[in-house]
Amino acid sequence: MADGDIELEARLEEQAEFEPSAEFVAQANVSDPSIYEEFEENWPECWERAADLLDWDGDYDEVLDDSNPPFYEWFTGGKLNASSNCVDRHVENGDKNRVAIKWEGELGETRTYTYQDLYREVNEFAAALRAQGVEEDDVVTLYMPMIPELPIAMLACARIGAPHSVVFAGFSAEALATRMNSADSRYLVTCDGYYRRGDALDHLDKANEGLDGVDHGVESVVVVDRLGDDGFGHDLKGNQHDWSALMDEHDGERVAPVERDAEDMLFLMYTSGTTGQPKGVKHTTGGYLSYAAWTSHAVLDIEPEDTYWCSADIGWITGHSYIVYGPLALGTTTVMYEGTPDYPTCDRLWETVEKYAVDIFYTAPTAIRAFMKWGKKFPESRDLSSLRLLGTVGEPINPRAWKWYHKYIGNEDCPIVDTWWQTETGGMMITTLPGIGTMKPGAAGPPLPGVDAQIVDTNGEEVQPGRAGYLTVNKPWPGMLRTLYKNDERYISEYWREYSDTDSDDPDDWVYFPEDGAKIDEDGYITILGRVDDVINVSGHRLGTMEIESAIVGVEGVAEAAVVGGDHEIKGEAVYAYVITEDGYEGDEDLRERIIEGVNDGIGPIARPEKVVFTPELPKTRSGKIMRRLLEDVANGDELGNTSTLRNPEIVEEIEAKVHAQS
Ligand code: WT7
Repeated sequence: MADGDIELEARLEEQAEFEPSAEFVAQANVSDPSIYEEFEENWPECWERAADLLDWDGDYDEVLDDSNPPFYEWFTGGKLNASSNCVDRHVENGDKNRVAIKWEGELGETRTYTYQDLYREVNEFAAALRAQGVEEDDVVTLYMPMIPELPIAMLACARIGAPHSVVFAGFSAEALATRMNSADSRYLVTCDGYYRRGDALDHLDKANEGLDGVDHGVESVVVVDRLGDDGFGHDLKGNQHDWSALMDEHDGERVAPVERDAEDMLFLMYTSGTTGQPKGVKHTTGGYLSYAAWTSHAVLDIEPEDTYWCSADIGWITGHSYIVYGPLALGTTTVMYEGTPDYPTCDRLWETVEKYAVDIFYTAPTAIRAFMKWGKKFPESRDLSSLRLLGTVGEPINPRAWKWYHKYIGNEDCPIVDTWWQTETGGMMITTLPGIGTMKPGAAGPPLPGVDAQIVDTNGEEVQPGRAGYLTVNKPWPGMLRTLYKNDERYISEYWREYSDTDSDDPDDWVYFPEDGAKIDEDGYITILGRVDDVINVSGHRLGTMEIESAIVGVEGVAEAAVVGGDHEIKGEAVYAYVITEDGYEGDEDLRERIIEGVNDGIGPIARPEKVVFTPELPKTRSGKIMRRLLEDVANGDELGNTSTLRNPEIVEEIEAKVHAQS
């Protein structure tokens, strides 16, 4: 290391606060600190700022209808169409030749869609969906990897008022079936396969297996031919149609965008909760789209002239809000990458930043920690000087990773926004504004203007700065979920019951609980401490421990299982499974493999256990409840918490010894 570098390292070690450069501030979309007051004084009308970023076909009557909390409605009576906001208006405003999507396949092939190209494709596919029988309000499931047909299909659905439900391509056949069943979805768009680290994966095989598990009729399945000659030679079945053939049939057709009510559903997104059943989070057209556009403008600082890249997968909410809806609503160029960051080499992302001269880059802490491990030589070999702003999302970012990102990717010139939010919030909630705020590595920042968040104790009383407590949100916001699909009761019990007076119809008595622990400092900066429910965060992906446990218990030879998250250097958390075998399976050498496969098949590779520990018993309280906290301590090699309330305290040391023996 050069001497200068050592000095810098030392300085960075000490530096706890960073300021955006004057150059960044001078060009930022939002740079006047009075915006916080302005939003507070003018609440909820302040949210018109967000709605004004869209084109409305019919004016709304009211910004917020809070007469029936927690069933809030935003921009009531307003009419709009999301696809026309993300596509048509840019074509009409003279930007038809601007690039909307730059797509990069894993093998290096590229595709570029201007707004005019996107307009044409979205219209043709909207016509194709209609011809397949899709009507307004029918839920269309999209089980697709990172190929351009995915955002095209999303926007085509939005055009005809059919909510989409995107199922992450890495999820299993079973997960697809569960989601199609829950949403009563009779239409599926999928593809033959895609590439991962150079290998072609057979996706249609998985999709077909999932379709076998759908317990109602499926009208139509559209299949994109992604692999061409590398494909697996599947024959399409009776109700299956080739994407390109349909597009040819509807060549040049136009479909008028359906006028949707602001509160009409734009999409469903399933996410993990405490129980085994995934939750169908419902997002709306007016509130969600306004919020995605506003946060893209204010936090990501997106301008139409930018080349913007979010490296998430569209199968998660981050991709919905910040690859597709937010950036396209603002008319910018959004980059999509199909593959993994280390293929063919560990500089793939930086090569891509250089190649497209990316201005704004948004990724997850887990990726940054992997880059740190691979070393600075990869970013240093590329010209990253086009970057102006960096962002992170999905899990807490440790200050070391923050500083590495700041130095080696941002060249100390780019502000970093550490954005806390959730599938349910639709968009960012807690982060600094890059043109205003001091940044403190490790702390996400204050709530956004107009967002009212507090850190409270179990009684709902605000805790002192520095003390750990629970994060709550005390006022509604436009991007919020409206309910869980066809399950208003679960919506209330999952998010509101904890801190609200549920008998009251006064919105002030209703408090949203995101199930995160957090603390706040004297300046109002919030540090997120992680989930307080039985949800673990693996590489920024949310997994329910119950879902994993039920996949494990389904494996022959397993009697009982408990899953917890253990610290992991790269992934943040990793899945630790403690398993009791059935009699006769104690010495079964293959059982570990079968358990891992069981999780793979039940949920997907992201949920594969890092460790499977066989044990004759699980630590239980006298009332029979599994003490997960102790299992977490064991996973993390931490000093064990209090074991005195256990029925079987001796078992913990036994388990601990086994975990040690494995590591
Ligand atoms: C959970 C939500 C938001 C899109 C990606 C994940 C954790 C999210 C941060 C952050 C610390 C974070 C929380 C949250 N989380 N962002 N910047 N700092 N934690 O969406 O799958 O709905 O998960 O991710 O625990 O509750 P999700």
